[in-house]
Amino acid sequence: VLPTPAAAPLRRTAQDGAVPEPGAVTIVVPTYNEAGNVRQLLRQITESVPSRLPCEVVFVDDSTDDTPEVVLEAAKDCPFPVTVLHRDEPVGGLGGAVVEGMKAASSDWIVVMDGDCQHPPSLVPELVATGERANAGLVVASRYIKGGSRAGLAGSYRVAVSRAATWLTKALFPRRLHGISDPMSGFFAIRRSAVTADVLKPLGYKILLELAVRSRPRGVTEVPFVFQDRFAGESKSTAQEGLRFLRHLAGLRTASPVARMVGFGLIGLSGFVPNLLGLWALTALGMHYVPAEILANQLGVAWNFLLIEHLLFRERRRHRTWWDRAGRFALLANADLVLRIPLIALFVHRSGMGPLSATALALVTTFVLRFAATEALVYLP
Ligand code: GDD
Ligand code: MN
Repeated sequence: VLPTPAAAPLRRTAQDGAVPEPGAVTIVVPTYNEAGNVRQLLRQITESVPSRLPCEVVFVDDSTDDTPEVVLEAAKDCPFPVTVLHRDEPVGGLGGAVVEGMKAASSDWIVVMDGDCQHPPSLVPELVATGERANAGLVVASRYIKGGSRAGLAGSYRVAVSRAATWLTKALFPRRLHGISDPMSGFFAIRRSAVTADVLKPLGYKILLELAVRSRPRGVTEVPFVFQDRFAGESKSTAQEGLRFLRHLAGLRTASPVARMVGFGLIGLSGFVPNLLGLWALTALGMHYVPAEILANQLGVAWNFLLIEHLLFRERRRHRTWWDRAGRFALLANADLVLRIPLIALFVHRSGMGPLSATALALVTTFVLRFAATEALVYLP
């Protein structure tokens, strides 16, 4: 069953038939209920961009308020084309919106920035000029290099979360994010030719991360910037957005089969924790250790199933009902245990291995078999 493609966004251009000048930059702005900010943003862009670099602005809007109307009204005073793409189905959230805007862009350079004035438009010409000078495919506006700061990131809680997320992300993608100090930035310039829209799977806020990992633009440089205070309203980020970010990370990190197998192994290892805790609790309650072992093992299986469902094969769950997948998964996990003993015996008696190396080989064999079977029988590609 293929997912139905999202309906094409509704497109409205403020100035009928306007086209960007040659050599222009396309500024893509995702908006979700920013009616109080877009007029100010267009004012700031008008003041600092067109005199230095011709531009067009494309808003990609998922609002439930009157943001599109406010944009179109304010755009009447703008000396550059302004377009609003309104989506009725906000697929992929912020990142999905940005990709939609990049597809609609007509310039060689695209600059992505927020709609709440936290990103200074005066930096737009500099981002593009730096990219041209350095012959780079991507220029990141960074809060974390000399001259940059995150003045607008209110509260020590948000600062700590942001720092931890940046650290984790850099640790997971050391090569792809080499030279990017601020992979969480929502402010950057990218060459249109570097955007491989068909391989992108945007999921929420971190569209720069998505582009850096999946489109792999050649040549990356950074420009410092000061993250401003929001002009009006409040951040649209939620706790749910944080969970989406973790899913996004897992999806990016397990895109290759080898990485998926490593993920499968790590999740399997983490299953020892609930397994041992369960064993401890059940025997403490007076249960004999053999049935306790069997029950506790199911706890580990359930834990593994949950993590694998949500982190590893999230996109491949649609082929079967969840109880069908759970049943097959549990069957495979228990078959693995049952298979291990005769396999060890076989290795010891047929190839004269010592019990330790036979056990190690049996563990690796059943692990690889179980991974392959889980991919093929539980989560069809
Ligand atoms: N179209 C669309 N759809 N736009 C969205 C959506 C959505 O689902 N969610 C948020 N936006 C828009 C907002 O309206 C705003 O223009 C922009 O995306 C950024 O959203 P904020 O809610 O203001 O984000 P933030 O300030 O918390 O986070 C920003 O800074 C972070 C760094 O601290 C973003 O730039 C993040 O990407 C960045 O990591
Ligand atoms: Mn913001």
